[in-house]
Parts: sequence; C-alpha cells; structure tokens
Amino acid sequence: MNRRIRLHRVALRYGATPILDGVDLDVASGEFVVVVGASGSGKTSLLRLAAGFVAADAGDVRLDDAPITGPGAERAVVFQDDALFPWLDVRDNVAFPLRLRGDARDARRAAADAQLSAVGLDGYGSRRLWQLSGGQRQRVGLARALIVKPAFVLMDEPFAALDALTRAQMQVALLQVWSQHRQGVLFITHDIDEALLLATKLVVLAGKPSRVSETIELDYARRVLAGTPVRDVRADPAFQQLRERVLDRLFDAAASPGAAP
Ligand SMILES: Nc1ncnc2c1ncn2[C@@H]1O[C@H](COP(=O)(O)OP(=O)(O)O)[C@@H](O)[C@H]1O
Ligand SMILES: [Mg+2]
Repeated sequence: MNRRIRLHRVALRYGATPILDGVDLDVASGEFVVVVGASGSGKTSLLRLAAGFVAADAGDVRLDDAPITGPGAERAVVFQDDALFPWLDVRDNVAFPLRLRGDARDARRAAADAQLSAVGLDGYGSRRLWQLSGGQRQRVGLARALIVKPAFVLMDEPFAALDALTRAQMQVALLQVWSQHRQGVLFITHDIDEALLLATKLVVLAGKPSRVSETIELDYARRVLAGTPVRDVRADPAFQQLRERVLDRLFDAAASPGAAP
C-alpha cells in the first residue's frame, strides 16, 4: 500500500524561539528522504514531529489523510544511541516489540532470528550487547525497528557515533534492507556525503528559523544498489558539485542577515 507522511507549512518553537517555520516535507512509501542541516537547525525536532512525539505550533502533520497526534506502530524510530536493553540478549531485544504486542514466544524468537539475518547478524541471537561492536549494535536497533514491518522508518543520525569504515558498511546495509521492503524512510544527518549517497530525495534545511531551502531528487542510492562501488559514486564529478551546492546552501543560510551566531 502506498502511504505518505506529509508536513505542510509546519512551524515549531521552543518557548519564544522559533525553530522551524513554513516547512513542507513529504515522505512516501519507497522514498528514502534525507534531511540534511547544520547542528541545531531543527532536524531532530522535524523527526519528532513526524514520529508524533511533539505537536506543531502551526501547519499540519499527517499520515495519509489523518493528523498525526502521537506515535504509531507504522512509524518505527531508530536513534543514534541505540536504546537497547542490556539485560536482554540480542534476540530478545529484537523481539521486544512483538512481546509488547503479545505474540507467542516461539513465533517472536523465530521472527527475531529471521530479522537478524536480514540485517547481517545471522547467528547472533544469543549474544549479549556488550559482546557487539558499535556497528553490530546499530544493526540490532535496526532489526528491532523493522520487526513490526513498519511502513516508515524514521532515523536520527543513526550512524554518527560509528567509525568511518563501519559507517560506510552500515550505509550500504541500510540501503539493501530498504530496497527489499521499500518502506518510506526519513533519515536525518548533518553529513552531506552520507545524505547524497543515501537519499532518493534530499531535503536541505537552512535559515533561522529553518525552512526547506532546497529539495533534490537523487539516484546515487540506486546506483549503489545496482552494484556501483561507493567510492566510484563519490568520485563522480556531479556528486562533488552537488556537495558544493549543498554546502553553499548551508553556509549562505548561516551568513544571512538575522542569522544567530
Ligand atoms: N525540548 C527542547 N526545549 C528547548 N529547546 C530545544 C528542545 N529541543 C531542541 N531545542 C533547541 O532547538 C534547536 C534545534 O534542536 P534540534 O531539533 O535538536 O536540532 P538538530 O537535530 O538539527 O541539531 C536547538 O537550538 C536546540 O537547542
Ligand atoms: Mg539532532
């Protein structure tokens, strides 16, 4: 089924400080939408709006045609600090949403093992979290998000704490998982290269308060999925030019009159 999260003319402020103003953003099934913006530009706030953790001060946030008034099982959220439960093994962490839902033990264990293998952690079910690397823990977090077969996955800088090599591996692993199920993805990052590589639709957030400064359709993710090595993709002159263009957007916004220091 084709589904859509839509933010329309959204404004958000904390106290008297406006953070977002007039933000339009669409995430449909099968789209990999990446929001890139400077630190403090309101990226996490945007994700929290889509997740239903906070309400907009103006405009509207909808899932299909209904206003989003809170979190929902069709929108899974993955955070940077993975928020896993250290007292549970890997399998039970992944199966946790199914336990909440009341699934039988054998069914949820089988589902967890299948999901672990889908994220490249075949056979890790009985491990403890402290036996895993940072990248593996992120895979566990991803598996736990995906196990309820969400229509949307909302990810807030999920790879920011990983070393460069692990991060690159996780980016490709995420694209592979997404290509199989074609969820709608809303992925937040301040890393322009990561944004360009993953996005089918790149949304540049800039200004004070932030608004959508540019939306760019991209196909680097599809090229990576088709087997083009990531380093070849990054070396493409068009990729380099796009990186400069996005950087300019972010810097222009920072330098514009009225921008906070
Ligand atoms: N709950 C909150 N209360 C007050 N200010 C907040 C809150 N959350 C975020 N902020 C502020 O709003 C701005 C945007 O934050 P955030 O959405 O986390 O940006 P980003 O994720 O792009 O770094 C920052 O200046 C931050 O300090
Ligand atoms: Mg943030």
